[in-house]
Amino acid sequence: EIVINLQDKGAEVASSMYGIFFEEINHAGDGGLYAELIQNRGFEEHELPSGTMLREHKACAPTSPSYYGGHENNWYAHWDEEALKFKAWSVVSEKCDVTKDVITPSEPLHKNTPNAFKLGISNIETGGKVELINSGYWGIAVKENEKYDLRFYLFSRDYKGTVTANIYDTASGEVVASHTFEVNHSGKWVEYKAELIAGKTINKGEFRLEFTANGNLFVDYVSLFPRETFKNRPNGLRKDIAEFLAGMKPAFMRWPGGCIVEGATLENRVKWKETLGDPMTRRGEWVLWGYRSSWGMGYHEFLQFCEDLNMDAMFVANAGMSCSIRNGDYVSEAELEPFLQDIRDAIEYAIGNVKSEWGARRAAAGHPEPFPLKYVEIGNENSTDIYARHFNYLYSHLKKEYPDLTFINTMSWKEREIEMVEQTDMVDPHWYENPGFFFAANGLFDDKQRGKYTTYVGEYACNNGVGKGNMEAALSEAAFIMGMERNSDFVTMTSYAPLLCNDHQPNWKCNLIWFNNEQVVGRASYYVQKMFADHAPDYNLGISKSVGELQTKLIKTGTFGIGSWDTKVDFKDIKVTQHGEVRAIDPSQFEHKQGEWNVLPDGVISQTAIQAATRTLLKDFSSDEYTLELKVLKNEGREGFFIY
Ligand code: AHR
Repeated sequence: EIVINLQDKGAEVASSMYGIFFEEINHAGDGGLYAELIQNRGFEEHELPSGTMLREHKACAPTSPSYYGGHENNWYAHWDEEALKFKAWSVVSEKCDVTKDVITPSEPLHKNTPNAFKLGISNIETGGKVELINSGYWGIAVKENEKYDLRFYLFSRDYKGTVTANIYDTASGEVVASHTFEVNHSGKWVEYKAELIAGKTINKGEFRLEFTANGNLFVDYVSLFPRETFKNRPNGLRKDIAEFLAGMKPAFMRWPGGCIVEGATLENRVKWKETLGDPMTRRGEWVLWGYRSSWGMGYHEFLQFCEDLNMDAMFVANAGMSCSIRNGDYVSEAELEPFLQDIRDAIEYAIGNVKSEWGARRAAAGHPEPFPLKYVEIGNENSTDIYARHFNYLYSHLKKEYPDLTFINTMSWKEREIEMVEQTDMVDPHWYENPGFFFAANGLFDDKQRGKYTTYVGEYACNNGVGKGNMEAALSEAAFIMGMERNSDFVTMTSYAPLLCNDHQPNWKCNLIWFNNEQVVGRASYYVQKMFADHAPDYNLGISKSVGELQTKLIKTGTFGIGSWDTKVDFKDIKVTQHGEVRAIDPSQFEHKQGEWNVLPDGVISQTAIQAATRTLLKDFSSDEYTLELKVLKNEGREGFFIY
């Protein structure tokens, strides 16, 4: 019996409890939430981080490849720079000679994105043509009657002809949208823009630029963008995926990661300033999940999305170290000031006065009002004393300057780690574990010392031993969440990870939401998240249990067992009857016997207790059908018990 005591008001459940964590992993952004349809649009994909550390220290690859969906060497999985040059691009030609390459022209379109596609066409005959083809992110999907904004750049001194842009359906061989331009051969970069309207809905499309004359050209920044995006923001987000996220009613969003905040090398870290401005000028970055992010969905787009979904923003900043910290890739404390300034600038961009340098940049980008930045996380998944010292330095300055912001430390709350931290507002421990862990972890927070900080469980997922995730995984996460809700004076924020995955290139095994060009699908875990957010309580109520007796009768065959993960349960009168006869129970048949066993003369066990994490197994009772009766006198645990 469970009694709910309406008068016994427990901890309030913070309205910040359920949020989302976005990282550019699994093509969550490019080829995912970011609505651009052209992959490798700026021909920069083969630009790997310069510096030698990444190549020399392959040992810095993740140590638990089982999480990574079989891509054991994600950090350097796609290192054929020559092949990467043409990623997602190909050329076909008819009745002409053609040369192709991706190089840095002497006059690049933009200094941040130096590479361009070089095309040479000669000996063209009547009816001859060259098509430069982009396959999109595993196909280009367009919808009938929808508008698509095309933008690309050409440079030529001698190409005297036209270029036709086609959206082509590989399934039917039809062109579903087309526009022809006269090419300017002035020896300058020229921008070409058009609105394409799709004549048909297709999912396996290609984008093609068709040339029909002799000459030499450079092609750069080819963008095909749906006019319809979430809230119709320009350079915006794919509507169906954004709506799926909106369905979770997230209270906050964490961005940009994850491991990529630190980078495989320090140089490879996310530099938020490079994610601003005209997308054509964004350098992008190779992310340690094995592909290059265009950073089309950058800091501004993230903040805008937070505003659009009424979420608080959580910016994750680099703490002067990379994921290769063990190889010595971090700055000294004396060199930390620029990192501090970079965080200040990020804060100012989000909420600063428009008269400040970075507040003015926000206003110039069309948003004079502050964005809802509330949290700044410093670093990601750290445990070293180096990090603790860096954090202490950064926190001591930032908290003084921005007392209203919440700053988050990324050490787990293991005492030996957290005691190195002088002060923090929150900590962010992560758990990627198996179902047993999460069921038991319902009680993880019950005895944690309160007062020094609160907790943001920024990443968790039952991803071990559950394939790509299943119902058991989702239920165990639900049990874990209930423990967090019950301790919501201490745990005030949570987010599952990873959030999004394009099913053509998973880096990670279990992800919350899977998508391709045609559909967006939430796993059972998604519906767990949604259910908790949809029904978030205001506060906990006290309960008392085990008043009275629970009587249970089961008809079984074979063996039976009674167990519990973390509880103490008192049973009485465990009685097995077979063919109407009470069968003797010998307690020595039980494995892992715990508690007292009083066997009555007729073979009934009068009373016993099982303790935490006990499985009490009666071995091989009989293969015949039997009836098992028992009374439960007392259940002191949180989870209850199981009979099997
Ligand atoms: O969620 C995927 C990765 O898991 C994150 O990048 C990192 O923080 C954690 O190790």
